[in-house]
Amino acid sequence: MATTWTPHSWRAKPIQQVPAYPDQAALEAAEKRLSGYPPLVFAGEARNLKRDLAKVAMGEAFLLQGGDCAESFAEFHPDNIRDSFRALLQMAVVLTFGAACPIVKVGRLAGQFAKPRSADTETIDGVELPSYRGDIINGIEFNEAARIPDPARMEQAYFQSAATLNLVRAFAQGGFADLHRVHQWNMGFVADSPLGARYQDLADRLDETLAFMAACGITADTTSQIRETEFFTSHEALLLPYEQAMTRVDSTSGDWYDTSAHMLWMGDRTRQLDAAHIEFMRGIANPLGCKVGPTTDPDYLIELIDVLNPENEAGRLTLISRMGADSVEEKLTPLVRKVKAEGRHVVWSCDPMHANTVKSGNGYKTRHFDQILKEVEGFFAVHRSEGTHPGGVHFELTGQDVTECVGGAHAITEADLSSRYHTHCDPRLNGRQALELAFLVAERLKEERANGHMNGTAKMAV
Ligand code: PEP
Ligand code: CO
Repeated sequence: MATTWTPHSWRAKPIQQVPAYPDQAALEAAEKRLSGYPPLVFAGEARNLKRDLAKVAMGEAFLLQGGDCAESFAEFHPDNIRDSFRALLQMAVVLTFGAACPIVKVGRLAGQFAKPRSADTETIDGVELPSYRGDIINGIEFNEAARIPDPARMEQAYFQSAATLNLVRAFAQGGFADLHRVHQWNMGFVADSPLGARYQDLADRLDETLAFMAACGITADTTSQIRETEFFTSHEALLLPYEQAMTRVDSTSGDWYDTSAHMLWMGDRTRQLDAAHIEFMRGIANPLGCKVGPTTDPDYLIELIDVLNPENEAGRLTLISRMGADSVEEKLTPLVRKVKAEGRHVVWSCDPMHANTVKSGNGYKTRHFDQILKEVEGFFAVHRSEGTHPGGVHFELTGQDVTECVGGAHAITEADLSSRYHTHCDPRLNGRQALELAFLVAERLKEERANGHMNGTAKMAV
């Protein structure tokens, strides 16, 4: 690994998943303009997230990361932003109660546009075109013009991210995230759910706790933690020309930060050692994530950790495992064991989505609610037996009432998928499925606590 890092040192390395821009001059002009635009996040905020993730690494907090698989220009609407943000808040409240520790909330939003693809081209009815790589690169429509990578899309994605983040910040600080409101939405969910009886107990206890706190004078008027929430953004740092253009020196610390999001992660397809993506990531001071799939070798993982986190700083690196419901225990155990034995500080998070994607009988890419839950349960089981902290969960979800994943209390079937299948990439949990999972994960967290497997102390920070 080269020792001299610059925001552009990745350009000398082999690179995967790179779009073939036909007009280099237009690409360079777009990069130049972007590099002069205001940062979307401030370095101090990224440091705050790193501080919070350090608590997760120590077993004193839990990470909830979620949002779209791929944001799109077509779905850019205030209601979508509101509903996804609300779903994450509702999940966080339930998880806080289950884990009895702070929940670190990180959205897959305000920048989650670029998608890695398993093939460079797609063929439909004998016509072969370049694959769709996310709205920041090309268009999803299946025609030649749409599939040409267009650098102007980077600027559109930037402005959409700025507007999305602006609304999210207003919601987080402006009263929308008031704990009592969020709890009322959850009570509505429990009342409407066919399996509501299962969740009633937790909801009732939360109700009593809030009433007790209010009686003690802890209300939205007296306590900012009841009224406001801290919320961070993240996306996969796949499109490096865009990420480079958003990378700036922080005047306070002199460090480089990628100001396109608080946290950036590397996908399972672009995490090769000595390649472009890892080269870019190692030099930015943001908290980083790295997807860890079933082909990951334990020795390789230690090498990767040491490149990305040479100081072994807690909170710097989150390993997001995505093994598959049926192989998580077999594949994850040797990795967790090795990382623990080598004394590396990481956050372990579970992405139960990406290795559980299947094709439905009627041709839709889907995921089964039960398989998603099964992978989370396997993840908890591994950490229980290895004596490590199951640090968090990573979901693809939307607050919209889509029909993309099958199962859940409302029992979405394969036949229902065509009714509201809107995703631009992978199938997402809808708002109700996501909240249901949060209730089920909260039950597991509570069991972990009861068995003394979590270090968390009872703190109310939502
Ligand atoms: C994703 O998170 O959308 C993704 C593509 O994941 P992975 O890199 O784990 O396949
Ligand atoms: Co995805």
